[in-house]
Amino acid sequence: VKLGVLASGRGSNLQAIMDNIDAGKLSAEVVVVISDKPGAFALERARKKGIPAFWFELASFPGKAEYEKAIVDTLVQHGVDLVVLAGYMKLVGEVLLQSFPNRIMNIHPALLPAFPGAHGQRDAVEYGVRYSGCTVHFVDAGMDTGPIILQAVVPVMQDDDEDTLAQRILQEEHKIYSQAIQLFADGKLKVEGRKVRISN
Ligand code: GRF
Repeated sequence: VKLGVLASGRGSNLQAIMDNIDAGKLSAEVVVVISDKPGAFALERARKKGIPAFWFELASFPGKAEYEKAIVDTLVQHGVDLVVLAGYMKLVGEVLLQSFPNRIMNIHPALLPAFPGAHGQRDAVEYGVRYSGCTVHFVDAGMDTGPIILQAVVPVMQDDDEDTLAQRILQEEHKIYSQAIQLFADGKLKVEGRKVRISN
């Protein structure tokens, strides 16, 4: 499958996906990386691998629909099969959703439906849960609400702060995102209502 990765920042999940592909652990190809931030380090990581990398700033378009149209056009031009959100910090709108129905994945740093939103790790530490983790899900119109594909659990330690927990969760993110993409590539994911069925 041809992946189009959307990232707003650091891009460690993008890096893990590219590394797993290079290591022969994931049969996919990153064909384009797009950011909503010109300075996103994810763009650097892509260019270093010779992968086309673009950015589009929402503010320079009349509205979200036009902004997303530019993204969709770029994804389509590169023949993208699956859109992978890797630290993309915007809510996905109608234009992108309708262009890639059940073909947009996201990774969230908490065990959904607990702690959705931009601060999953901090919210987990503040709540005092003993376990947290990460979730790969298909994207729908809500915030971190789409059908769940895979989850991984990590313990929350007494002395954790947002950063130490985030670090522990990130190690799992880097594994399960590639696993979920591989399942998609193998045609093993079927969305049935709000659930995802994984076939053998
Ligand atoms: C990750 O924690 C991911 O779960 C969240 O944003 C962060 C992105 O990190 N959606 P990176 O840019 O992939 O390093």
